[in-house]
Amino acid sequence: MKKMSLHNIRKEFLDFFKEKEHLVEKSYPLVPKNDKSLLLVNAGMAPLKAYFLGTEEPPRRRMATCQKCVRTGDIDNVGKTARHGTFFEMLGNFSFGDYFKKEAINWAWEFMTERLEIPVERLWVSVYLDDDEAYEIWNKEIGVSEDRIVKLGKEDNFWELEVGPCGPCSEIYIDRGEKYGCDNKDCKPGCDCDRYVEVWNLVFSQYDKDEKGNYNLLTKPNIDTGMGLERITTIIQEADNIFEIDSMKSIINEIEKESGKKYGSSKKDDMSFRVITDHIRAMTFLVGDGVIPSNEGRGYVLRRLIRRASRHGKLLGIKEDFLNRLSSKIIDSWGETYVELRERESQIKKVIKVEEDKFQETIEQGINILNEYVEIIKNEGKNILDGKRAFKLYDTYGFPIDLTKEILEEYDMNIDEDGFNSEMQKQRERARKAREEGDNQAWDTDDIGLEDNNLKTIFEGYKNFTSNSKVIGIVKSDKGIVDSLKEGENGIILLDKTPFYAESGGQVGDTGILKGENILIKVNDTKKGKGGKILHFVEVIKGEVYNEVELYAEIDENKRNDTARNHSVTHLLHQALKDVLGDHVSQAGSLVLPDRLRFDFTHFEGVSKDQLDQIEKIVNFKILEGLDVSIIETSLEDARAMGAQALFDEKYGDVVRVVKIGDYSKELCGGTHIGNSSQIGLFKIINETGIASGVRRIEAMTGKKAYDHIKGIEDQVEKIADLLKANKKDIINKVQSMNEEVKNLEKELDRLKSQLALSKVNDIIGDVKSINGINLVCKRIDGMDTNGLRQLGDTIKDKLESVLIVLASVKDDKVMLVSMATKDLIDKGIHAGNIIREVAKVTGGGGGGRPDMAQAGGKDPNKVDDALKIVPSLVESQMK
Ligand code: ALA
Repeated sequence: MKKMSLHNIRKEFLDFFKEKEHLVEKSYPLVPKNDKSLLLVNAGMAPLKAYFLGTEEPPRRRMATCQKCVRTGDIDNVGKTARHGTFFEMLGNFSFGDYFKKEAINWAWEFMTERLEIPVERLWVSVYLDDDEAYEIWNKEIGVSEDRIVKLGKEDNFWELEVGPCGPCSEIYIDRGEKYGCDNKDCKPGCDCDRYVEVWNLVFSQYDKDEKGNYNLLTKPNIDTGMGLERITTIIQEADNIFEIDSMKSIINEIEKESGKKYGSSKKDDMSFRVITDHIRAMTFLVGDGVIPSNEGRGYVLRRLIRRASRHGKLLGIKEDFLNRLSSKIIDSWGETYVELRERESQIKKVIKVEEDKFQETIEQGINILNEYVEIIKNEGKNILDGKRAFKLYDTYGFPIDLTKEILEEYDMNIDEDGFNSEMQKQRERARKAREEGDNQAWDTDDIGLEDNNLKTIFEGYKNFTSNSKVIGIVKSDKGIVDSLKEGENGIILLDKTPFYAESGGQVGDTGILKGENILIKVNDTKKGKGGKILHFVEVIKGEVYNEVELYAEIDENKRNDTARNHSVTHLLHQALKDVLGDHVSQAGSLVLPDRLRFDFTHFEGVSKDQLDQIEKIVNFKILEGLDVSIIETSLEDARAMGAQALFDEKYGDVVRVVKIGDYSKELCGGTHIGNSSQIGLFKIINETGIASGVRRIEAMTGKKAYDHIKGIEDQVEKIADLLKANKKDIINKVQSMNEEVKNLEKELDRLKSQLALSKVNDIIGDVKSINGINLVCKRIDGMDTNGLRQLGDTIKDKLESVLIVLASVKDDKVMLVSMATKDLIDKGIHAGNIIREVAKVTGGGGGGRPDMAQAGGKDPNKVDDALKIVPSLVESQMK
């Protein structure tokens, strides 16, 4: 066999089929286009379905690709075995009604035996049970002997996805040798052992399987082939498994460097190595194709991959976040073939890092709690985590349930699934009650109990604030469709058309009213439901509303206008941020409310006051320019060509909306806007903070709110000037000179206090007691600080040659204690530090020090007198 790298095998394959007049295309993105049946592209043919079905004309009837694929069905097994993976590259040649079995088989054989130089004696093939045609070609034309052709049933030799193009297939197997085999005498392709691996699947794609499971014959038969690049590389490089081929090894090397551990030295660590090695490719490619971590769909797949890899990094002892760094290695190695990785390198690393950091917080807390639970379970001699605790982890701490399961498995433990589900059920019950009471947050907008996707609402609110609409659906709190809503009841109403904007793109939903004959309904919020539904969250104020009833819908216009001001200004702000901070800034989220706005963006450090001033000024000057806001509806391609900013994680339809503010800002946006920038009025930044590593947040106001805000500050300034009895313009000078004055007064006060205390020295000395021949001065003088007490002590010491001093003071509710002893007393056994410690204890405090000098703080001012009372007895005991 020819020795080749993974990258070279890919090239060899594509070159080969180019020679056979195939159009070689770049890999299609992992996110399928116009294909709702698929979450992620999972086979080379998936992006080409329309060509197979004949609904679209292919650019050429013969094509070949190396397609990025992700399959997540087995994600839990990735790492556990060396066979499973999520991301892989699939080599494929395709014929759309052009060549068929004969060419497909001949070329596959030629490529295997002549280009890859795989010895013929190692090759086997399989055909579908009754596919005599394929059998004949293999046997008669190619010359594969009968005993090397295996006939297999639908399970093995019929290839299909849920729906779409499919057909019987023929596979090429490679014999890896006896050492991978089993004891079965009859061991051959189809056997469960590892000896015969299937490397190339030739699908004679002749049917279109529909949603009901019918196989509809296509007018022209096609060829769809697929060969896993990693798998064929494993064979060519005579590696044991996919993790041992060149490109994977280089990732493993990096993880070895990060962790200081060696692959192959511990079973447990090896699993972590494999998880990371597989997942890092999947996540890098997914983010490269625009997927962003989230809690559903592809975003959730990505989130799980990042979290799983991050946790296994922890298991290997890697302390910091490392996946974002490791992704560079993927980009270095694969970026030449998949240029999108290079183009989006900084975005890829940023997205992974933010998710890693976010996970770090969740995971640390969650793992600690789970570890405690594991201990408890162990101590109880059980192996099941009860439903309550499992649910608490999930619900309160946001710890992913599959991660809980996975971690427990490592301890041979399980979750009490029934218990967990029953907790979930209780939660649902609580949510139902909350919905009944009008809590809109308690609804799951993706599942309101109304599956009918024909119930679509036409949104008319870009132009109109009112509409005459008809009720097409009513839902009550228990997630069921109902006939009517009565006075005082809460629920959701669907209309055939509406002016109410449903919350999206960070902009809040509209509020307003629906009116009909003897009906008055308050709309408290509007959100998007599944399948183009617009959900009005309502409370019936008067009357009863039924399906089919005509209602006059009217939004709260003031609220909408204030919101629109804030939305338009986020576009100006976005551009101004780029102008001032640089082009790396991109939107990471936003919240547009009527009274304020929030804009999150990627940036690696805090924004300085100067920069903020500059940004605020640019936005305000753009407002002053009175720029027209225009809306253009066009295709995504044209919008991009216009240079419109598109959010990375947004899914856009066929027609997109570009919002232009003069020539200054162009963004894809579905929100509502004002007509001219001047309507924004005034823009005021209120706050700037970091919300995650690499993500900053600006909070700001516009229009009336900004005016109120500034007016509020002005009123305060006036009040301050009044209080200072100064002119508004002079307040700073005035405050500075007052500060100066206060400082001087404080100094004077301190001086006077000390003087006063010193003047009392004679009185104090007059009060000296003798305990067992020891002169003791024990006094409380409130209002002095520790320094003052020490000075006073020193003065007393100067006057009396032999003395033990214990002084206490209460100042601002704090207790201060100082004790001093002359040397002759120390020789007699007196220890100032030990005395002060005991005294402080009585007041609930602590402290101590040297035998000659010590100080302490007390706690309870009410105990000071009691504390000083114990001094004589302390002296007595020290004398013993
Ligand atoms: N579509 C076929 C497969 O994925 C070639 O195996």
